[in-house]
Amino acid sequence: HSVAVLGAPFSKGQKRRGVENGPKAIRDAGLIERLSHLDYPVHDFGDLSFQHLEKDEPYMHVPFPRTVGRANKLLSGAVSNAVEAGHTTIMLGGDHSLAIGSVEGHAKQCPDLCLIWVDAHADINTPFTSPSGNLHGQSVAFMIKELQNKMPELPGFSWVKPFLSAKDLVYIGLRDVDPGEYDILKDLGVQYFTMRDIDRLGIQRVMEVTFDHLLSRKQRPIHLSFDIDAMDPSLAPATGTPVNGGLTYREGIWITEEIHNTGLLSVMDLVEVNPDLGASREAVESTASMAVDVIASALGQTREGGPITQESQT
Ligand code: ARG
Ligand code: MN
Ligand code: MN
Ligand code: MN
Repeated sequence: HSVAVLGAPFSKGQKRRGVENGPKAIRDAGLIERLSHLDYPVHDFGDLSFQHLEKDEPYMHVPFPRTVGRANKLLSGAVSNAVEAGHTTIMLGGDHSLAIGSVEGHAKQCPDLCLIWVDAHADINTPFTSPSGNLHGQSVAFMIKELQNKMPELPGFSWVKPFLSAKDLVYIGLRDVDPGEYDILKDLGVQYFTMRDIDRLGIQRVMEVTFDHLLSRKQRPIHLSFDIDAMDPSLAPATGTPVNGGLTYREGIWITEEIHNTGLLSVMDLVEVNPDLGASREAVESTASMAVDVIASALGQTREGGPITQESQT
């Protein structure tokens, strides 16, 4: 068992500058060193380099469709290769449009995967329902089979065929859902837990129901797509679309600990850390360090420590 880290410095799924510096901020916060204390070898594959397209006219009100489509195609190949090589793969964004390529590439190797989307937002707008046009708010819509006839043919995306059923997806942390997204979630009967649901049930019960929903019929690989804006903005302020009333530190870590404990985590995205948007150096560092903490915990760092091993003596 080994871990692959893959940086995706990309920002064209939204209009704010700086989220392309997310991978560097997360590495600077000590990610690789932290992972080196866990049980498996870590391979840092560095950052992908994405092409800049000269001409990329908006489609309807969706900006940079070809650029986003091409970047995701490259990322899809990289994630697919890393999973094929047997690595548990960590994709560092970048904006959340990158989940299109990450989950698609994962699904190429693991067609029976399930998706846990931890986010303040549902990111399931179509170009017709999206208020902003931004593709980072539409990633899930590209994946879902039941939405196929609601999606236009976007330039840059002909390579993506929907591959996931609505029942194979669970959301955790929602608190800013657009009206078109609400209709889609209800129409498709998607399982989701808003912050209100977490307040009512407690995060422990939320994770139990999540795993019942996704894993009770069979064990299968988990794709965890973790948007740092799921966390409360007091913990992760340096992000493009912060929403008050988010996950506490302990709720965030509980989610990743429980996912680790399934033994089924296969790919994790950590997206939307934007170091250019922190009000201070401390704000940036706390956001990046939150990202490192949820990644390490998803990969098995525990709060109860662990026994003496060869690695713990180095
Ligand atoms: N729902 C809004 C939109 O469609 C915000 C999406 C924010 N997405 C994100 N990955 N931070 O534009
Ligand atoms: Mn060490
Ligand atoms: Mn979000
Ligand atoms: Mn998101």
